[in-house]
Amino acid sequence: MPDGFNCGIFAEMTTPKRYLITSALPYANGPKHIGHLAGAYLPADIYTRYLRAQQRDVVFVCGSDEHGAAITIQAMKENTTPKDIVDKYHALLESNMHDLGISFDIYHRTSSPIHHETAQEFFTKLNNHGDLEIKESEQYFDESANTFLADRYIIGTCPICSNDNAYGDQCEKCGTSLSPEQLINPRSTLSGNAPSKKKTTHWYLPLDKHEDFLRQWILEGHKDDWKTNVLGQCKSWIEAGLQPRAVTRDLDWGVKVPVAEGEGKVLYVWFDAPIGYISATKQWAINNNKDWKPYWEDKDTKLVHFIGKDNIVFHCIIFPVMLKLHGNILPENVPSNEFMNLEGDKMSTSRGWSIEMDEYITDFVKKENGGDMMVDALRYYLTAIAPETKDSEFTWKGFQDALNSELVAVFGNFVNRAFVLMHKLCNGKVPSLHATIIDDADRKLVADIQEAKIAIEKNIENYKYRDALFEVIDLARKGNKYMQDKEPWIVAKQTGENGLPTVEAQQKIDNCLHYCLQLTANMAVLINPFLPFTAKKMCYMMKVVDKMLNWENAGKVNLLSVGYSLRAPELLFRKLEDIEIGEQIEKLKNKSKKLMETTLNTQPENTPEKVEEKKATIQFDDFAKIDLKTGTIIAAEKVEKADKLLKLEVDLGSEQRTIVSGIAMHFQPENIIGQKVVVVTNLAPRKMRGIESNGMILMAEDKEGKLVFVSSDVNNGSNVS
Ligand code: MF3
Ligand code: ZN
Repeated sequence: MPDGFNCGIFAEMTTPKRYLITSALPYANGPKHIGHLAGAYLPADIYTRYLRAQQRDVVFVCGSDEHGAAITIQAMKENTTPKDIVDKYHALLESNMHDLGISFDIYHRTSSPIHHETAQEFFTKLNNHGDLEIKESEQYFDESANTFLADRYIIGTCPICSNDNAYGDQCEKCGTSLSPEQLINPRSTLSGNAPSKKKTTHWYLPLDKHEDFLRQWILEGHKDDWKTNVLGQCKSWIEAGLQPRAVTRDLDWGVKVPVAEGEGKVLYVWFDAPIGYISATKQWAINNNKDWKPYWEDKDTKLVHFIGKDNIVFHCIIFPVMLKLHGNILPENVPSNEFMNLEGDKMSTSRGWSIEMDEYITDFVKKENGGDMMVDALRYYLTAIAPETKDSEFTWKGFQDALNSELVAVFGNFVNRAFVLMHKLCNGKVPSLHATIIDDADRKLVADIQEAKIAIEKNIENYKYRDALFEVIDLARKGNKYMQDKEPWIVAKQTGENGLPTVEAQQKIDNCLHYCLQLTANMAVLINPFLPFTAKKMCYMMKVVDKMLNWENAGKVNLLSVGYSLRAPELLFRKLEDIEIGEQIEKLKNKSKKLMETTLNTQPENTPEKVEEKKATIQFDDFAKIDLKTGTIIAAEKVEKADKLLKLEVDLGSEQRTIVSGIAMHFQPENIIGQKVVVVTNLAPRKMRGIESNGMILMAEDKEGKLVFVSSDVNNGSNVS
């Protein structure tokens, strides 16, 4: 067993002493869109608010990632310095997150001195311990700019999706993480020239030495509690064989390598950025007069990283190895979301096909008729369509439907009716409960409240926020039904001689509204982690302090005292009008059109289309014999002694298939996990290198003769015709 490797970390922690929750540090190189919000910030915020409501010891840290080529290149684009860029966008991101109710305990920054010190100390400890390797290698170099080209300084065609502007570290179109060597037709972003190669020395983290640890810790230790999308990616990385990874770069913007031979070099941004979680915790501790150490060193701390799927390898493989070597605790879970698309296309700031957090805030939150209720409306829809297990899609129509027919018509409507009727039929006070006439419907409602509480807890603790939210709405729906069945407004017509409801009638009304109000109080507690502004407003209406929102109150039906007078109802949500969504769709189209025009004008002219070779015509019946289905590649590995072959596992919805495909020269196995494909499913099985292949994956060839996947975003197992 490797040094310092403690098997005890696999043990289930029942009630941790404390929690440290992190959200991926966004690059401070521009605004961030609502897909980012839905992926790494909102779920973490929901979880943290829930833990706080449970009075747990929890710290929620985040901050701006201010190093790396993402920043220096943006500075070049905006014709300014990296420092200006991070100052500008750090401020923007911090205020956007705040406006959207993301309740970080600290939003730190990696350009701060405390972060530089922390990252350097971390590197030094590993280096002194002999945990890093120093190696000379050849790297891409731009002669005209006289500089090495790492990560985003080099662009080229993505080997996975053919995006012509993929970066040397990642393709932003398909989210695959890449190395510069994988790019087809690489070119320098500085000069546009094809690069040469030059020798340079770097420090490497020998991940290959930690394979056993990772295998045991993730594939054994967490096989039951980590999400399948996360496990799938980890498995394929580990199985493909891990390589030493350079943790330094030839750049001048970043954390300086703290040894003499490291002159002119900085730490790789992906080495320093996650250490940002630690330095943020340190700064939080200083600000609050606390000790940061237990949060990173005591194994009674539950560490959870919330991220998007393009960050999985860094948080599940590389950073844990660093943490282990440095003697820190490891994450208990790394709930990662898939991507959120927008109106039928990938969300992308650079292509203008996005809703930036800042835009949403300007258009809806800071408008007169918006405000916090529109923050909660967005939080609601993003949670309801969260890409928890697969990519999902934001549409303005979907947003309008969710807001108008769920928040307004179900949740808001129930609360409003309960308050209006209480004012009309019970003098604006919480009516008494008459024990002798409590009936089955009442008891059922109480049971529903208690069951909802348990279901919501279970879902939140298992990182299933969509399901948890559905439970809250479902409870409101049950409230509406209860009220509708009891119809107190009709009962009120059973009047005596004085024109007022009879005693029996009044008692029925009292009981109904008593329970409706207790349910309202419960709804405030249960919705609070998701829609904090709404919960607060409900507390105001009920004239209770925010402490009522403590989770221990969930499920109790005595939260509001009899005789207590309540305020008039306030509007919790407003409808979204057709005209507003029309404007947004128009705006989106114009924005992307404008951006695409400017990019196209700066691109070289298109080469003439390659003339397609045509095949002989076939009859429809011939075509109809082919069974085509959609699927997702869930595992991929090289076939031994066969340069061209990859062995793939494809999920077809109802079944999984092993397919051997001749694409190994075009794709790295670890990069195609999650790729959607179209499969010929009724091709006769064929043995290749001893492996039985059950089907064929459709590929297309582009103008340059490169292979691309034929794919679609529909559910696995759909027929293609
Ligand atoms: N800045 C990275 C991104 O946007 C995320 C960094 S997460 C951290 O993809 F762990 F490094 F902090
Ligand atoms: Zn790509």
